Amino acid sequence: MAAASSGLILGIESSCDETAAAVVRRGAEILSNVVASQIPIHSPYGGVVPELASREHLRNILPVVRSALAQAGVTYQDLDAIAVTAGPGLAGALLVGISFAKALAASLDKPLIAVNHLEGHIHAVLLGDGRGAGAAASEIREASSRPVLALVVSGGHTHLYLARVHENAWTYRNVGRTVDDAAGEAFDKVAKLLGLGYPGGPWIDALAPHGNPEAVPFTFSQIKAKAHRKGDPAALDPAEATYFSFSGIKTAVLRYVHVHEMEPSIEKRRAALAAVADLRPSHALPLCDRRTLDLIASFQRSVIDDLRRKTFRAAERFHVDRILVSGGVAANRELRVRFTADAAENGLAIAFPALALATDNAAMIAAAAWPKFLAREFAAPSLTAEPSLALGSRP
Ligand code: KG4
Ligand code: ZN
Repeated sequence: MAAASSGLILGIESSCDETAAAVVRRGAEILSNVVASQIPIHSPYGGVVPELASREHLRNILPVVRSALAQAGVTYQDLDAIAVTAGPGLAGALLVGISFAKALAASLDKPLIAVNHLEGHIHAVLLGDGRGAGAAASEIREASSRPVLALVVSGGHTHLYLARVHENAWTYRNVGRTVDDAAGEAFDKVAKLLGLGYPGGPWIDALAPHGNPEAVPFTFSQIKAKAHRKGDPAALDPAEATYFSFSGIKTAVLRYVHVHEMEPSIEKRRAALAAVADLRPSHALPLCDRRTLDLIASFQRSVIDDLRRKTFRAAERFHVDRILVSGGVAANRELRVRFTADAAENGLAIAFPALALATDNAAMIAAAAWPKFLAREFAAPSLTAEPSLALGSRP
């Protein structure tokens, strides 16, 4: 069987609002990476509408898979396995990818591999040159049994993991999480309340350099983690765990907007942007006054500083010398600069995914599936969506 040695995995991802398919060779070489974004569909609502997401996934899944195969120049028969995101994510959205992957695997008589979306984000860093700012991806790939600290920071998650690889098998220990909103969710909600576009992260990223990040002093008490919940079996050991909390800063921004009577200018901006075709963050700049730009810059700086401080504190606590940062928020330019500077100062290696691989994609799913393929860790035909699927063991 010639194809068996080629190591081609088709990855399928449909956990949220991107329908994605990719062909990756031996977990490292991207042959194709197709992402059909649903941003224009959900944009008018300022957030993902689950029913619309499922419907769009259904519409897109076949064309996206076909174009991933065509761009890779391979046929269904060339594939060694089909990998699919099993969770966490929206139940209906996940089911579209899973059902499709199961049917494909069964009809082709190829193995099916279930991948945790969060593990996918971690593996995005190991794809391609994985450089971002500061290299270290290859070092992380050859990490032996020494752990790497992984910050997965996206629209749905803010997690810290100790990730280890031993003889190609990856294990994870969850050592930090958010107690309320994810960091990306805070970017999205703040952008929405300031009348900017969706998703908010790229808008805030683009506007923040035009404001003063020290203008609005968001204090720590506003983003302090809540106490550990007693009796919660899923809760982390508070002595070791890192807790993030991003709902407080969103409320603080809202309060600032009220106090400074910014609502009329926000409504004007919202209306002006609604009339723009082919909307991009640069369109918002002339519509933002100094106070708004300062607020945006200060919000971004506060969130990044909180992520940075807690991540480096955890690195110290667990004696790790390598950090990787992944997920949609890892596309943020200021985050990359500040994490890279901190890593250099502390003598730690740091790696980020290539920009296109920070947000949701299927190449990362195919990459995370490769060690499972080698270990023959295949999914049962009964595989179904697990909306709250956790990654790794908790302390
Ligand atoms: O990883 P992802 O595509 O989906 C989830 O798994 O959630 O992350 C999407 C999130 C959104 O909240 C989006 O606003 C945020 O990532 N994001 C950013 C940037 N690009 C995307 N946040 C800050 N700066 C960015 N440049
Ligand atoms: Zn994601």
